[in-house]
Amino acid sequence: INKGDMGNIKILVTAGPTREAIDPVRYITNHSSGKMGYAIAKVAKKRGACVSLVTGPVNIERPENVNVFEATTADDMFQKVNELYESADIIIMAAAVADYKCSFVSNSKIKKSSNELTLTLVKNPDIAYSIGGKKGDRVLVGFAAETNDIYDNAKSKLSKKNMDMIVANDVTMEGAGFNHDTNIVSIILNSGEIIKLPIMTKEKVANEILNYAVRMYNDKRSS
Ligand code: PMT
Repeated sequence: INKGDMGNIKILVTAGPTREAIDPVRYITNHSSGKMGYAIAKVAKKRGACVSLVTGPVNIERPENVNVFEATTADDMFQKVNELYESADIIIMAAAVADYKCSFVSNSKIKKSSNELTLTLVKNPDIAYSIGGKKGDRVLVGFAAETNDIYDNAKSKLSKKNMDMIVANDVTMEGAGFNHDTNIVSIILNSGEIIKLPIMTKEKVANEILNYAVRMYNDKRSS
């Protein structure tokens, strides 16, 4: 049996984009490849954790010996995470969940006719917010993909969603964010401490995130 430093820890990770239908042939999504979340799942497994991964539609290899659950839409992901969170000690949300979905999904392919087409979007449920409200002594880690005012935006998400820490990435930087094998992140703890990390592979970023998450988990259990 693998007994790394996470041998007694159950972890739930979200990864990838969500896909929101417009009609049977079209959808709204984003550039998430799943690499960041999959790296966390893989590294946590290597360190001995019991890992569940809720993944949006991606085209990368599944990590070995991890329980994988597929979700297409934000609603699917919301439902899956809400089914699984209770048995997790640490929850890490690296998925890029679509904030909006179409208010109406056409049953048939929308035909090209007028020069303008208006889609009405409605808000999706916020998975992190829903878990933040009922996390108990679980450690909740979020991500923030930002293009400006990185720290202010990330800190506001951290507190609104009752997270223990948030991993902020400036997705406009070369080598950071969507689809790269590397990332450039700052880890912001709920104490206000900010740890700025240099460019590193997503697996190394995963290790750093897990170091802080495990420390917080141990602190919560011993207090
Ligand atoms: O998948 P890769 O190609 O490797 O790219 C990695 C990444 C850029 C997707 C990843 O590092 C990242 O930043 N993921 C979060 C992207 C995001 O959608 O951030 P956000 O600022 O919109 O959301 C903040 C947090 O709330 C996130 O933890 C997100 O998972 C969560 N959220 C957001 C909206 C929603 N409806 N439900 C959520 O749970």
